[in-house]
Amino acid sequence: MARTDGDTWDLASGVGATATAVAASRALANRATLIDDPWAEPLVKAVGMEVFLRILDGNIDSDDAESDLRRMAQGMAVRTRYFDDFVIDATASGIRQTVILASGLDARPYRLTWPASTGVFEIDQPGVIDFKTTTLRNLGATPTADLHTIGVDLRDDWPGALRASGFDPSQPTAWIAEGLLIYLPPEAQDRLFDHITALSPVGSRLATEFMPSMGAFTGESGEPDDDGQERWRKLGFHDDLADLVYHGERSHVIDYLNGLGWQVTGDLMQELFEANGFESHDDEMAEKFTGFQYISAALTSTN
Ligand SMILES: C[S@@+](CC[C@H](N)C(=O)[O-])C[C@H]1O[C@@H](n2cnc3c(N)ncnc32)[C@H](O)[C@@H]1O
Repeated sequence: MARTDGDTWDLASGVGATATAVAASRALANRATLIDDPWAEPLVKAVGMEVFLRILDGNIDSDDAESDLRRMAQGMAVRTRYFDDFVIDATASGIRQTVILASGLDARPYRLTWPASTGVFEIDQPGVIDFKTTTLRNLGATPTADLHTIGVDLRDDWPGALRASGFDPSQPTAWIAEGLLIYLPPEAQDRLFDHITALSPVGSRLATEFMPSMGAFTGESGEPDDDGQERWRKLGFHDDLADLVYHGERSHVIDYLNGLGWQVTGDLMQELFEANGFESHDDEMAEKFTGFQYISAALTSTN
């Protein structure tokens, strides 16, 4: 089923299941000691989706399971380290306010060491926010920052909800939008960056991704492309990612941010793989992500 305006989900359905998939990869990366995220595995287990429980149990019917799982763990380690380092650099520079947009099962407000009195604001759909917050509390996790959770749809008036929860737009802020953009309609992606900019004084920072095309999700014919999803499918996750993302022309993220006064630096995923000491691949899957970058930006002027 294609996306509709105002559709909702929890962590076991629709777009929400992608947050659980990502957390399952973090759990594998944590087990391989590539990252330190002790909460990913218990969170995935609490969601209880059979496919991810089987992956964590190693109960997978695929010849390439071992290499597929290793590559997933390494890919997630690259991603997690990138956004962790972004936050650590931002706080080291004196930024004391962070907003994690589409936080999913991200446990940064519980697992990173934040300077005293740092405000962290997590935004996601109400069902996602409530489940994670309650589950972590029941697991005995305590936030390591001054945590504010906001259950709101990012296609709606999220800036209003953010301000109402105590966010201070006069303070430089570090914004994270990790694994979010493809799940927003193209115009909502532009609006997201417009809102972020309007809520940010000069000196604020932003980390997100740049996907040069949606080709990893849709074949040239316009039909859903199986290859891009082959790995998850082999592991038993049959949700059609092509139905979860929004297709069609969208703004070039880097150009759009430049136009709003952000100075952007990008790192190609392939290069980050090598920089992290992992073998890079040049198979069909890697080809579809050619040009994919993790990007960090600093607001240097306001229009
Ligand atoms: C792939 S997951 C990434 C989660 C998290 N950032 C991470 O990296 O673990 C995508 C997340 O985007 C959230 N999301 C997508 N569209 C959203 C919307 N319109 N409003 C709120 N959250 C949204 C989903 O609920 C989900 O948690």
